[in-house]
Amino acid sequence: MSEQALLSVENLVVDYGRRHRRVQAVSGVSFAVPERQTLGLVGESGSGKSTTGRCVSFVQRPTGGTVRFAGTDLSTLPARELRRARTKLQMVFQDPISSLNPRRKVIDIVAEPLAIWGGVNRKEMMRRAADMLEAVGMDPAVTGNRRPGELSGGQCQRISVARALMLEPALLVCDEPVSALDVSVQAQILNLLTDLKERYGLTMLFIAHDLAVVKATSDRVAVMYLGKLCELGPVEDLYLSPQHPYSAALVDAVPVPDPRRPVAGPPLSGDMPSPADPPSGCRFRTRCPFAQDICAIEEPPLEEIAPGHLVACHFPTSSR
Ligand SMILES: Nc1ncnc2c1ncn2[C@@H]1O[C@H](COP(=O)(O)OP(=O)(O)O)[C@@H](O)[C@H]1O
Ligand code: SF4
Ligand SMILES: [Mg+2]
Repeated sequence: MSEQALLSVENLVVDYGRRHRRVQAVSGVSFAVPERQTLGLVGESGSGKSTTGRCVSFVQRPTGGTVRFAGTDLSTLPARELRRARTKLQMVFQDPISSLNPRRKVIDIVAEPLAIWGGVNRKEMMRRAADMLEAVGMDPAVTGNRRPGELSGGQCQRISVARALMLEPALLVCDEPVSALDVSVQAQILNLLTDLKERYGLTMLFIAHDLAVVKATSDRVAVMYLGKLCELGPVEDLYLSPQHPYSAALVDAVPVPDPRRPVAGPPLSGDMPSPADPPSGCRFRTRCPFAQDICAIEEPPLEEIAPGHLVACHFPTSSR
């Protein structure tokens, strides 16, 4: 497996609003995703995951920091080249039904990216769209002529994935792709994404609020809280020995706990503070059962505590 980073994000900052109504949704986030690997990005709602995902796929411009794709900072490219490069970065969203045009036939929805980019005749376009429908487990003869409203949420998400893959992207950003689906369907879509990742050699950023979902898909996991990363490491390390109290609480909240590790601590209580007025020092301190005086004064830096395992906490689990 190549360890070259296909995606690298450095000190990403995203502000919304102006002056006294300014909200910093992402506050200096850095990570890299090696080619053909999946990074899971987890955290509660409002932590800045979607904003990060949109910046990574160049749907949204950050306020600060850089996003490099295959070594190039895409924001430096001229508009035409940027448009072309962006075809290699695709997104799959949470709500499959509303992200598909209800008036169009499934086969046309899937073929649309090819129609926009041109270069192939209609017959070839339809052939490729039908092949892609098959690749996502749908029978083109049965579903190709249907409209999204006639299909289930799971089927719609398969179509969203098919459409996202039509231009042969290198990077797929999946923003909570199973959160809106029935539990029974979630595993099918996760398996599909894992299969497609292998088949097409995809690199993925997989966003979820639930660590269980990320565990099924990711090589490494980044835990995000109030606009910052608090822990980043290989998926097994994060599960078996979470070092940040927030990660530990997320691991404990997984419905079927791993028998190899004991419950790490008290469950998460209280709400996340507003990103418009984050706590001083460590942003997690208002909910942290281990907080001490220093936590209000000094922000803990994200530091490597084991090879490839980084944590931002003055008192990580292994030091307590
Ligand atoms: N377009 C926007 N305008 C203003 N604030 C926004 C906008 N999008 C997101 N936010 C705010 O930014 C923060 C992070 O949001 P988001 O990236 O959607 O987080 P997540 O995906 O983790 O739930 C939240 O406080 C949210 O209210
Ligand atoms: S730095 Fe302090 S408040 Fe923050 S997570 Fe660690 S122990 Fe808790
Ligand atoms: Mg989101």
